[in-house]
Amino acid sequence: MSTYDVIIIGAGPGGYVCAIRCAQLGLKTAVVEGRETLGGTCLNVGCIPSKALLHASHMLHEAETNFATMGLKGKSPSVDWSQMLAYKDDVIGQNTKGIEFLFKKNKIDWIKGWASIPAAGKVKVGDEVHEAKHIVIATGSDSAALPGVEVDEKVIVTSTGALALSSVPKSLVVIGAGVIGLELGSVYRRLGSEVTVIEYLDAITPGMDGEVQKTFKRLLEKQGLTFVMGAAVQSATVKAKKASVTYKLRKDDSETTLQADAVLVATGRKPHTEGLGLDALGVTLSKRGQIETDAHYATSVAGIYAIGDAIAGPMLAHKAEDEGMAMAEILAGKAGHVNYGVIPGVIYTHPEVANVGQTEEQLKEAGRAYKVGKFSFMGNGRAKANFAGDGFVKILADNATDRILGAHIIGPAAGDLIHEICVAMEFGAAAEDLARTCHAHPTYSEAVREAALACGDGPIHS
Ligand code: NAI
Repeated sequence: MSTYDVIIIGAGPGGYVCAIRCAQLGLKTAVVEGRETLGGTCLNVGCIPSKALLHASHMLHEAETNFATMGLKGKSPSVDWSQMLAYKDDVIGQNTKGIEFLFKKNKIDWIKGWASIPAAGKVKVGDEVHEAKHIVIATGSDSAALPGVEVDEKVIVTSTGALALSSVPKSLVVIGAGVIGLELGSVYRRLGSEVTVIEYLDAITPGMDGEVQKTFKRLLEKQGLTFVMGAAVQSATVKAKKASVTYKLRKDDSETTLQADAVLVATGRKPHTEGLGLDALGVTLSKRGQIETDAHYATSVAGIYAIGDAIAGPMLAHKAEDEGMAMAEILAGKAGHVNYGVIPGVIYTHPEVANVGQTEEQLKEAGRAYKVGKFSFMGNGRAKANFAGDGFVKILADNATDRILGAHIIGPAAGDLIHEICVAMEFGAAAEDLARTCHAHPTYSEAVREAALACGDGPIHS
């Protein structure tokens, strides 16, 4: 048995970042992780492996569509699927080993196994009980099940199985036009699959700015994805390695059945809290199964805290990381804090989609007087040279004060561009502050400045 200042359960982006910061702040820290490698869902079966496949499939797309125009001649590459998966696995390995190195460097103990909490101050792993002043639950989330849909992770898969299919499917049905469905759906489309996305609502990516939703859907359709909107999936089953998916249109209750080589279920995730013994401890969960916490991540039981996907808020790796750092600071007696008003969201497709702050729909609903500054990437020289003119930057600013309230970008490097607006918002900047900041030419970031100029006297290049 060992005694620690902090034991963190789960080594995903929330847990491992919390551990490193705890150690840096002088707390004796251990992390319990049952997976064979550190990094959680994000590094092992989520954000990082999907980015490897996005990159590879984008390279193929560039070779097939733009190389000849640029005077790059030769046979287009073909897909060696097992090599692509090996590349993806190598990327995972480099990252998970990197965290192992950081744990050693910071003298963090990795307790291998699955944890439960028999009492406040105690963490049980296998037959051993470890003691800690503070316990942080950072156990993340799992794919939510959909009634009637039998996931086997071979033909009917969640995002985990979709990153390790035995071959590129000829046809793929994606259930849910959210982040996971569109990122992975567009990967497989570029690798040659016929992709049909079935979505319950009338718009893709719920909660996103309406104008971006429409442009995004149009661009994905141009890439060859087919959408069935307003349709509730009733069942998905497998027979002789072929899947049948039945959906019902909401407008007239008519039923249709599609056949496919693979089905990706991407209809949301749920907090992972089973097996911890939270019921017996009396830790309060919300109706949605999230662990309830106060503003300092304390649960209803003294000495037990929770962060990341297991608590309320967007299920995003970077939100969990920020909570991990704030948690460590709080445990070390400092003033840790997360600004939930400035958490960016990024969809890693081509083009990328990124947002921060309020949408136009939210501002309208709140009755707020706002102005819109918009600039198309068609007017950006760098984007034109790179075949990346699709999309726009849209900045929403307060009508009276010019303070930036939100930003929505669809276009090249949107996931990176959004951060200058995040920083501006953290500092309470006005659109004019961005507009008066010199931006290097020629860069994509000029489109952000032009959108900021569009909130005032107008952009230059449109
Ligand atoms: P999501 O909540 O983003 O989207 C699920 C979609 O499925 C919704 O559009 C919903 O209307 C639809 N749906 C639900 N039931 C349905 C049914 N029976 N038939 C048809 N459509 C149905 O969930 P997703 O994509 O699974 O992602 C889960 C979580 O992981 C999200 O919180 C997401 O933010 C996070 N994530 C974030 C990434 C990123 O930031 N790039 C990448 C991957 C995941």
